Amino acid sequence: MQSELRKQLLDAFTNAGGSYLSGQYLAELIGCSRTAVWKHIEELRKEGFELEAVRKKGYRIVKTPEKLTADEIRLGLTTSFIGKNIHYEESVESTQKIALQLASQGVPEGTVVIADEQRSGKGRMNRNWYSPKYTGIWMSLITRPKIPLTKAPQLTLLTAVAIVQAMEEITGTIPEIKWPNDILIDGKKVSGILTELQAEADRIHSIIIGIGINVNQKKEDFPLELQEKASSLFIEKGELIPRAGLIRCIFKHFEKLYLLYLEQGFFPIKLLWESYAISIGKIIKARTLTEVIEGKALGITSEGVLKIEDQSGTIHHVYSADIEL
Ligand code: BTN
Repeated sequence: MQSELRKQLLDAFTNAGGSYLSGQYLAELIGCSRTAVWKHIEELRKEGFELEAVRKKGYRIVKTPEKLTADEIRLGLTTSFIGKNIHYEESVESTQKIALQLASQGVPEGTVVIADEQRSGKGRMNRNWYSPKYTGIWMSLITRPKIPLTKAPQLTLLTAVAIVQAMEEITGTIPEIKWPNDILIDGKKVSGILTELQAEADRIHSIIIGIGINVNQKKEDFPLELQEKASSLFIEKGELIPRAGLIRCIFKHFEKLYLLYLEQGFFPIKLLWESYAISIGKIIKARTLTEVIEGKALGITSEGVLKIEDQSGTIHHVYSADIEL
């Protein structure tokens, strides 16, 4: 099916909000015959949409596909380069791995790898990232900013802001950021970001931004050891969240912030990041690989490094750590 027709058809069903639309109405709207409408409906069924057809009333969508499809994400996408090139797989070891391969093959900036399941999702600090089928967003975004290596962590902070803004827009929840890039709602982690670099000397080839979001899991879907510290948007909001719409919204906010960053530098992003951060001004414990620093989180430097003032007044610069509030 031509994507413009499919977009019109899906938009019409979206606007109908669950009411029936007659074949005649759809044919006039799209500008084709009723037989052609029927063919388009069959195509949607093949993609996993459940459509009910009732004589004299018409059609309505009763269920969208459980699986994500690149088409569903592309429809309604407003960005100019982020997410324009989508590489979808139903099940992968890790989207990071595929994105790193694609990046070294020279795919365009903004290419994204999305999977419905990761069998061995990677978290920060060599941890696993639990990525069950059909319930979350597991994706890796390929960027190629012309910035020095030391500035790469700024992109992780920028991504956290984009995710928070998209979550706010789609779900109305108020997520917060725990340095550097954990996104929490009501103190529980709903999203994490893993940034990996391909670089040589001080030249960045690509930065792969891995985004994991717990979207539609129920509490009992999480392994016991995660149930106390992890949550999902469904648990926090009480309703299922359409994943494709949230993905598009993240792309929109990311692209806007990324272009702002390339034009004006990190300062505007730093201000936004700080406005969403929970740890600033609080007494925190930072566990780095070598030590534990306890003190007041003062904020982040213009490079995105966390500043902590300990009891003796010494200011520590923390590049990588786990934070306890
Ligand atoms: C964290 O530990 O907080 C970071 C989690 C990052 C998970 C995402 S899911 C998509 C991408 N692919 C991976 O294997 N990991 C990242």
